[in-house]
Amino acid sequence: MNIAVAQSGGPTAAINASLLGVIKEAYEVPSINKVFGSYNGIEGIIKDQLINLNSTVSTKEDFDLLATTPSSVLGSCRYKLPDYEIDEEPYIKIVECFEKHDIGAFFYIGGNDSMDTVVKLSRYLESIGSKVAVLGVPKTIDNDLFETDHTPGFGSAAKYVVTTLNEIIRDSSVYDLDSVTIVEIMGRHAGWLTASSCLLRLNGETAPHLIYLPERVFNVDNFIEDLKEEIAKHHQVIVAVSEGIRVAKGMTYGEAAERPDGFGHVTLGGIGKQLENIVKARIGCKVRSVELNVLQRCASHIASKTDLFEAEKAGVVAVREMMMGHTGAMIRIRRISDSPYRIAMEAIDASKVANKDKPFPQMWINDEGNNVLDEAIPYFLPLIQGEVPIKYENGIPVHFKL
Ligand code: F6P
Repeated sequence: MNIAVAQSGGPTAAINASLLGVIKEAYEVPSINKVFGSYNGIEGIIKDQLINLNSTVSTKEDFDLLATTPSSVLGSCRYKLPDYEIDEEPYIKIVECFEKHDIGAFFYIGGNDSMDTVVKLSRYLESIGSKVAVLGVPKTIDNDLFETDHTPGFGSAAKYVVTTLNEIIRDSSVYDLDSVTIVEIMGRHAGWLTASSCLLRLNGETAPHLIYLPERVFNVDNFIEDLKEEIAKHHQVIVAVSEGIRVAKGMTYGEAAERPDGFGHVTLGGIGKQLENIVKARIGCKVRSVELNVLQRCASHIASKTDLFEAEKAGVVAVREMMMGHTGAMIRIRRISDSPYRIAMEAIDASKVANKDKPFPQMWINDEGNNVLDEAIPYFLPLIQGEVPIKYENGIPVHFKL
């Protein structure tokens, strides 16, 4: 048989490592002939836009480059499959594509929305008596998937966030004046990535002095009071704020004009700038806002070695679980211990993960809702460990391109 693999949702610095894991393991299985990549997620299957990866990802150099290339080399999508009882058409096209290319298993690397596709497609295939297996490989910088300790892609994004904040701290402390620097961090509905900035404490930093997450309602008046207190203590104050903080009426995320994606999500971004203007008006000190934006999910030059290793392993395990007869399943990471850091990977029912967002735990947020407790540190710490050597050309990192 042949297999197909696709990437879906927001890219990460580790999603190509998971693709590599699927490809490398499939090459080892004698009963798997060709590995097809589907362009733009499930849309590539529906439109029959596939590429034979056996000839394009074949050398050790290809493998090394693919693993350290950020973003999704196969492209991505935010396409939601309809319920097959209501609209069977895309499913019929998917089955036609699978039959045409003799595809016996489909691997979908993605987050909670992509697991919706894994669930719906596997159920449809079972309902028509098809033997094609569908497996999910987790990824997301948001780290908001239930049932898994963490998600591939998160550790690298967290390493970038911590590293960048560290540099911002140095830059923002040069002048002998009071200042506020607001750093806006991705994560949509979950504050995991913003919360990971607490790791800087381990290196003796007091910053970020304030951390605001979507898991608590954000109050502007309290924010201004928090800032005044921190300015009195530290003079140069750093704030880590999640793009998805829950703001009161009157403030928006700047999302209103954006077109929601197939899963109804709007594009966030801009809350930091709004807070900057509020601080300027109400405190009047020097203020800057920095929106990390897509940089935090494509910064492969500072990827976490642990993350890339686990991302690749998740792809490998997905192929193994498929060979053992699993379908409609996602590979999860189960943490065995923090120190020494040990994990196991196993298949679980993807319906436990689809369409749900796992919030950052309330027990790790302080009572005031403006910081993260030290108890979260052992969770985050192992995920950002290790650096990955990358190839440079003319002083610029080299990326794998299809
Ligand atoms: O996939 C997660 C994520 O990166 C979120 O952190 C962010 O809110 C969203 O995707 C951005 O979506 P898009 O890639 O469509 O801009």
